[in-house]
Amino acid sequence: MPTSDSPDSTLDLTFPEGFGWGTATASYQIEGAVDVDGRSPSVWDVFSHTPGMITDGSNGDRADDHYRRWPEDVALMADLGVNFYRFSLAWPRLQPDGRGDLNAAGLDFYARLVDGLLERGITPWVTLYHWDLPQVLEEAGGWPERDIAYRFADYADRVFARLGDRVSYWTTLNEPYCAGLLGYAAGVHAPGRHEPISGIRAVHHLLLGHGLALDALRPRSTPDHQFGLTLNLSPVSPATDSEADVDASRRIDALANRLFLDPVLLGRYPDDLIQDLEPLTSFDHVRDGDLEHIGQPIDLLGVNYYMPFRVKAGAGHKYHNTPYVGAGDVDFQASGRPTTARGWEIDPDGLYELLMRLTRDYQAPPLWITENGAAYHDRPDGDGAVHDPDRIAYLDGHFRAAHRAIHDGVDLRGYFIWSLMDNFEWSYGESSRFGLVHVDYDTQRRTPKDSAHWFAQVTRRNGLPATAP
Ligand code: FCB
Repeated sequence: MPTSDSPDSTLDLTFPEGFGWGTATASYQIEGAVDVDGRSPSVWDVFSHTPGMITDGSNGDRADDHYRRWPEDVALMADLGVNFYRFSLAWPRLQPDGRGDLNAAGLDFYARLVDGLLERGITPWVTLYHWDLPQVLEEAGGWPERDIAYRFADYADRVFARLGDRVSYWTTLNEPYCAGLLGYAAGVHAPGRHEPISGIRAVHHLLLGHGLALDALRPRSTPDHQFGLTLNLSPVSPATDSEADVDASRRIDALANRLFLDPVLLGRYPDDLIQDLEPLTSFDHVRDGDLEHIGQPIDLLGVNYYMPFRVKAGAGHKYHNTPYVGAGDVDFQASGRPTTARGWEIDPDGLYELLMRLTRDYQAPPLWITENGAAYHDRPDGDGAVHDPDRIAYLDGHFRAAHRAIHDGVDLRGYFIWSLMDNFEWSYGESSRFGLVHVDYDTQRRTPKDSAHWFAQVTRRNGLPATAP
């Protein structure tokens, strides 16, 4: 167990030696260049061009133009002093038809990026799927259909064959909750379907794709390779201790957390969830042996944490387009905590609680926070600087919570901030800014915010001063 200072010591808080400090991004959110070098449309191109789907009417056509400006972005990361960079590969850039040989131009782009990172001493961390499904595969049925899990494993296999010599860290999926339930049940993410059962099927095929991909990669790996996936997780608590609220909390915890954690870490779906969903599905899309693929050992678990949930039992099934399939009666309540500009509650203790739970209840593999961060209404000042004290306070609080968890026995290996720079924030488009670096989308000018300068000090000292800013 790494040693660190006690949380209430007057000494600086130091993280374990070699701790990973990074920034995270995703292909569709930053790359732009959607129609060059053989890239085919993804579900997000189609969705973001559908009127009414993106709050500010923007789309990912330009985003951060990272496809062309990546050397500048790698230089920005070097200034931050990070030793890791988490990014995703665009499946439609690499395999435009969703099957068959890889597209050389797409592969070249990622190979150059990887080399550029390595030259700067930054370890590349690849996510194979951060939601930009080739539209051609959605047209063939999308994630609710089993075949796509095999397509995904084939794509993973081909990419690993080409980049596996230079990339050690591989995660299959980012947030199957969002890809499956926001995309197919709630319809607020691409492909925008409102089909609750398709959402549950999509989740299973995403997880199966994860398992089949690891089946393909593992035999060709070396001891340096680290495989896993990223889940978004949130502590859930009942608004009161009434039996009904406690049960509502159990049901939401099952759909938000255990639907993913249990298959991946325990090799089974939660019994209570199967019962809750009995009126809707018999889970007959799960075939013998699937859970062995899904539940195979992983080397790391990526955790994306933003906020906790507080829930209350409601009357009648009033929420229809909800990701919480079968739980359209449950109300989500504000707890009175301060929120970010996105309206997300700020609760560093929730991160501590989550990391402790994973360690205690799941004997989780080494943990990495693969995303944590906050959106604020940042804009450059008259002097050209971007002052974002709220983001600094947010990150500082969460770093301290992570440090406390390490102190209390959690094997946490690294921490990625969402995000390196402002980017196309899915259904919020260009209106929601999570970056350490400000981006003016019209000029593509990048300006490190105060939080970027602050984070550079954190990475260099591998820790924080004893007192919060
Ligand atoms: C997560 C996504 C990431 C980003 C953050 C704010 O759910 O993985 O792409 O949008 O939320």
